[in-house]
Amino acid sequence: MGGPRERPEDGAPGIDRRSVLRAGAFGAAGLASARFLAGCSTMPSAAPVVPPVTIPPDAVYDCGVASGLHAPDAAVLWTRVAPGAVAAVDVAWEVAIDPGFTSVVATGTASAEPGADGCVKVLAQGLSPATTHWYRFRVDGRTSPVGRTRTPAGEGAPVPRVRLGVASCQNFPAGFYPAWRAMAAEDLDAVVHVGDYIYESGGGSANPLNVRFDELGTATTLAGYRAKYRLYRSDADLRAAHAAHAFLPVWDDHEFVNDYDRLTIVEQPARAEAAYRAWFEYQPVWPIDGTRIHRRARFGSLVDLSLLDTRQYRDPHPNGGKGTLSATTDGPAREVHREGRTIMGDDQRTWLLDGFDDAQDRGITWKLVGNQVMIAPVRIVDLDEPFLRLFNPDTPKHAGVYLNTDSWDGYQWERDEVMRHVHDGGVANVGFLTGDIHAFWQAPLLVDFDDDASPAVAQEFVCGSVSSRGLDYAGDLAAGLSEAAVGLRPGFRYVDLVRRGFGIIDCTSGSATVEFRVADASRPDGVVRPASRFDWAAGTQDVRLVPA
Ligand SMILES: [Fe+2]
Repeated sequence: MGGPRERPEDGAPGIDRRSVLRAGAFGAAGLASARFLAGCSTMPSAAPVVPPVTIPPDAVYDCGVASGLHAPDAAVLWTRVAPGAVAAVDVAWEVAIDPGFTSVVATGTASAEPGADGCVKVLAQGLSPATTHWYRFRVDGRTSPVGRTRTPAGEGAPVPRVRLGVASCQNFPAGFYPAWRAMAAEDLDAVVHVGDYIYESGGGSANPLNVRFDELGTATTLAGYRAKYRLYRSDADLRAAHAAHAFLPVWDDHEFVNDYDRLTIVEQPARAEAAYRAWFEYQPVWPIDGTRIHRRARFGSLVDLSLLDTRQYRDPHPNGGKGTLSATTDGPAREVHREGRTIMGDDQRTWLLDGFDDAQDRGITWKLVGNQVMIAPVRIVDLDEPFLRLFNPDTPKHAGVYLNTDSWDGYQWERDEVMRHVHDGGVANVGFLTGDIHAFWQAPLLVDFDDDASPAVAQEFVCGSVSSRGLDYAGDLAAGLSEAAVGLRPGFRYVDLVRRGFGIIDCTSGSATVEFRVADASRPDGVVRPASRFDWAAGTQDVRLVPA
């Protein structure tokens, strides 16, 4: 079984750029395995099959309670009242600053409506900043489980510490959720969920790879997407994590359909509308404007967190290629280098870069980005070489063969724009927190990754998957791939393509520590343990790997 691979402790990340053999080895293995890394894998499972999920014990609050981090003086409270999906039900709610509800600070009533599948969402206002609150709902004398949520500190307020969980990719039939059980027990300010909260595809008992069942089939309608959220929230560990922490969710592709782009929305408008509507119904997020989900959270003077949407505005995949492996020097694949090509859309890009500048101007120490798909390049064959340009002077900058152009690798110009802006604007302490690829990676991000002298200006931490499979059962292939990936240019400090889990980032004014935790998702009571830690000194690109 392949384990993680780590770069020997390094100063500069640069390596010999003409390691053609190494790139070739990764390329061959990459061709065989790209499918598994680029999305949902179908690798065989050694885990036992268990009976289908049973109906949760609470027939009224069948999906538990949840909260969303919103503002220093407000929080989003969420529950679902199952009878409300049939006929409107009045729901009382209250918020207190103690778990016994002796000091209630906000109350109100809302309505659970069939039009929202019985989901109730409340914006509780008048709360105190940087304060832990407890909340609950009541329907006809039936009280919900108690949830806990924490408000962030107000603008400019000194904050000694901010601790965030980072999660993604929780394919229900593929694995259990010990990761969520462990996260529920952590002391966190919030949980950042960077998408693939549900998988629109099914995963039934006929599939021997599954450890539990999703017999709902592929969701294409509002009823279908709603049913997925109810199935996923039927998991007690996920409900426990929601009850324990405020969430900051953004979607990736599987909340709608695999590898989609803005053209997919034009082609399947009714399905997109259903998928987005169900997401807004079931996620503790207050609507902003239509289907906009990119937004910003700030924690006093310590953390600025930009949550991206790299799906609904992105330019289409070249030639419908959806991440296929081909040289980007010519043909449709060359599109990935086109100036102006965007994964965020022009408005969101401006919003992100302006936000970096504003946070820097205000003296906010850490600028974190909740980011769906990897931004560090995974180029398995480097074709941007001087001797190759002799034969093809028209070679685009960064030409190569990329593992997965569904990631930022498919949007090269915009990635360069972001890195150049961070560099030119002197934006310090930028960290991308990423999901999607069902693996753990850590990499410095350079202004120009084809220039050995180019400085690192940011860091990326790819924080694994809660349950979705990576190369779990690929054995020596996974080990070889991990090793080859560490050696790619400009290189990775750490690669683990095998294990499930999540990340925790712990920020203070002097440093950030990122922990990768691994979880055995093959069992409901699977062990969760530390895998590695990265210590990052503020004001530097000095990230030190500390193995567990
Ligand atoms: Fe995923």
